[in-house]
Amino acid sequence: MKIIMLGAPGAGKGTQAKRIAEKYGIPHISTGDIFRANIKEGTELGQKAKTYMDQGLLVPDDLVVDLVVDRLGQDDCTRGYVLDGFPRTIPQAESLDAALAKLGEKMEYAIDVDVPDENIVNRMGGRRACVGCGATYHVVFNPTKVEGICDACGEKLILRDDDKPETVQKRLTVYHQQTQPLIDYYNNAGILKSVDGTMEMDDVFDAIVKILGE
Ligand code: AP5
Ligand code: MG
Repeated sequence: MKIIMLGAPGAGKGTQAKRIAEKYGIPHISTGDIFRANIKEGTELGQKAKTYMDQGLLVPDDLVVDLVVDRLGQDDCTRGYVLDGFPRTIPQAESLDAALAKLGEKMEYAIDVDVPDENIVNRMGGRRACVGCGATYHVVFNPTKVEGICDACGEKLILRDDDKPETVQKRLTVYHQQTQPLIDYYNNAGILKSVDGTMEMDDVFDAIVKILGE
């Protein structure tokens, strides 16, 4: 099962991708999480990516594509994967299609989690991310058992650097310019499915399971 999650920043791609990965037993591959892990470890890739991420800009395609194509070649990907945050530009989508074609494979589902911009800014201000394992919560919609502490690993929660309101606005603009065209791209490929991302998290997940099958 090969799945792409599409949607604006804060639409709930990560929230739903994690649940899809658990239910269907496939890896959740988030380029944002990979970059954040590299930033935390202080790698060269992390240092490069951070300068773009902190401004709400996309990391250049050449830093992203090889990284993902390598990851998809690992053993745990033989039964499929759920891609979260990639592809994010038409050239990334074309590179992904070309890499799959070389293996005689094709993407199967592109699921667009649709949320209007008005809802996004509220969501981002309330999001908290774990410094340890990267798990994501929301102070109102998905709170932790103990305030400020990750349920999964017990580490501290923070507001992501790029979740400040002015950076969120920039990310939304970049999304509309560079990523939204992928909706037409995957519609033309015949694999686009849309879900209403303004529903409660469980209802969004139910809608996705209807698409993917039990
Ligand atoms: P990335 O980490 O992918 O960020 P993003 O796309 O901006 O998406 P988010 O992670 O902010 O949102 P999400 O849709 O995962 O929402 P979530 O589930 O957390 O990328 C970060 C940066 O890395 C980019 O800006 C770019 O610089 C770089 N980058 C990454 N990939 C790249 C690529 N391919 N090419 C170039 N650059 C790249 O949910 C948000 C909040 O809402 C949470 O608090 C959650 O609890 C809550 N929530 C979720 N669902 C619901 C619901 N149904 N109701 C109420 N609340 C909800
Ligand atoms: Mg995410």
